[in-house]
Amino acid sequence: MDYREIARRKTDELKTQGKVRVLALETSCDETAAAVVENGRHILSNVVFSQIDLHELYGGVVPEIASRAHMEACDRVVDQALREAGLTLAETDALAVTKGPGLVGALLTGVNCMKGLAFAAGKPLVGVNHIEGHVSANYLTHPDLEPPFLCLVVSGGHSHLVEVSDYGTYRLLGQTVDDAAGEAFDKAARALGLPYPGGPRIDALAEEGNPEAFTLPSPKTDGRYDYSFSGLKTAFMNTVHTLEQKGQTLPKADLAASFRRSVCRELISKARLLLGSGEWRVESGAMSGFALAGGVSANRELRRMAAEMCGELKIPLFMPELNLCTDNGAMIGSAAYYRLMNGEIAGLELNAMPALRLV
Ligand code: KG4
Ligand code: ZN
Repeated sequence: MDYREIARRKTDELKTQGKVRVLALETSCDETAAAVVENGRHILSNVVFSQIDLHELYGGVVPEIASRAHMEACDRVVDQALREAGLTLAETDALAVTKGPGLVGALLTGVNCMKGLAFAAGKPLVGVNHIEGHVSANYLTHPDLEPPFLCLVVSGGHSHLVEVSDYGTYRLLGQTVDDAAGEAFDKAARALGLPYPGGPRIDALAEEGNPEAFTLPSPKTDGRYDYSFSGLKTAFMNTVHTLEQKGQTLPKADLAASFRRSVCRELISKARLLLGSGEWRVESGAMSGFALAGGVSANRELRRMAAEMCGELKIPLFMPELNLCTDNGAMIGSAAYYRLMNGEIAGLELNAMPALRLV
């Protein structure tokens, strides 16, 4: 029997099995992360090896360095995830790996690693969309959450408002027309001389500052629920440069707080517009609530504003716990479970898809 046939038969058997344990690997950017997740909801282990130290010197992720570091770390991180879950590779039921979007070399390292293991162990393999992984982080933190719900996905590369209609089914309602929210945070942080990655640093600094100290323009977009952060970022840079030209000491905390407020206000205002409109199924009670996902969902002000909005609109709010907001393997294991149960497995021809979209 060839690998494809073995994997298909095992996948069919899993559909009636009580406990399905997926070993997942994530290598799309600068984290080598592996996890074992049971039934898409329960984390048995979650190991994240961050490469931040390697890239900090360059002020951003250097793709070649990332690929090499993933190559060196993959086996170790996978072994650790299995050890912490108390399982051998043979005792897992399926394997999963991020297939895209992300850095091509980084993705390829993970895809090749898991293809090798899947073939050697005769296990089904699921190729996972990284963005779907971020959305699925909510299933790990909120075991009762079921689609449909509205999700604001905000990461280093994405700012999307999506309806999660069902597991694996999405409807795009709004997206950024230029920079992603995380990218804007990182660029603003760089202007303030903060080290990479800037988002969490701006967030921490902003806690000490006055968010009304500087007025930044409200972005304008043609699409009702679309985002734009490039104008905001340029206005922020101009403010910083003007202060520098005047020889003034930068009030970094106030600048960080003002920028964070503007970005979060923009993110939440479009979500509020959508939730309040007849275009979405809020009143009918057909949706579970509003969810945040992606690295930027760790942002303290965004979480506060989301809580305030959902409180006012009287709809449930779902947010991944902080360590599941940024890249991790558990979210990939959760997303993979639902694809696996749907029989969506990959063959050994699985390749990296750097520009893969969610919808
Ligand atoms: O989801 P993620 O880990 O990777 C991608 O898929 O892109 O997101 C990383 C992004 C970075 O831009 C990082 O600066 C941002 O999320 N980020 C934050 C915070 N934590 C991470 N941005 C603002 N506030 C935070 N607390
Ligand atoms: Zn991510």
